[in-house]
Amino acid sequence: MHAFLLLPLLLIAPLPSQASPQLALDKGCYSCHGEPPRRNVPSVAQLAADYARYRGQADAPRQLADKLRAGGLFAHIAAHERLSPEDCETLMRWIIEGAK
Ligand code: HEC
Repeated sequence: MHAFLLLPLLLIAPLPSQASPQLALDKGCYSCHGEPPRRNVPSVAQLAADYARYRGQADAPRQLADKLRAGGLFAHIAAHERLSPEDCETLMRWIIEGAK
């Protein structure tokens, strides 16, 4: 119901939900997480399916952003680590909400 009401708005107004795919594009996320994704890398759609379980958790975007920017012990990915905290949180929220 809400989606149908929102759809016309999304098409005419530059709402944040439209800004995020552009941000992901600008930050090079799709060069590894695109379709098809790079070998052993989840696609954005796969990440969204995985992160759907964080929906409704207010502090999840911030926590996931901190984790992504910090990197793993053996996985240092420049595209993750050079994101600003704000951009990273925006992208995590976008992925949690289904990466539309
Ligand atoms: C150079 C390739 C590359 C680029 C560019 C890249 N990623 Fe990743 N990403 C990976 C790999 C490899 C993994 C899996 C390993 C890991 O978790 O560190 C990953 C994992 C992730 C995860 C899951 C982390 C977890 O542990 O749950 C998210 C979310 C993510 N990337 C988001 C992004 C976003 C947003 C961008 C754009 C700013 C981006 N990635 C750009 C390679 C990349």
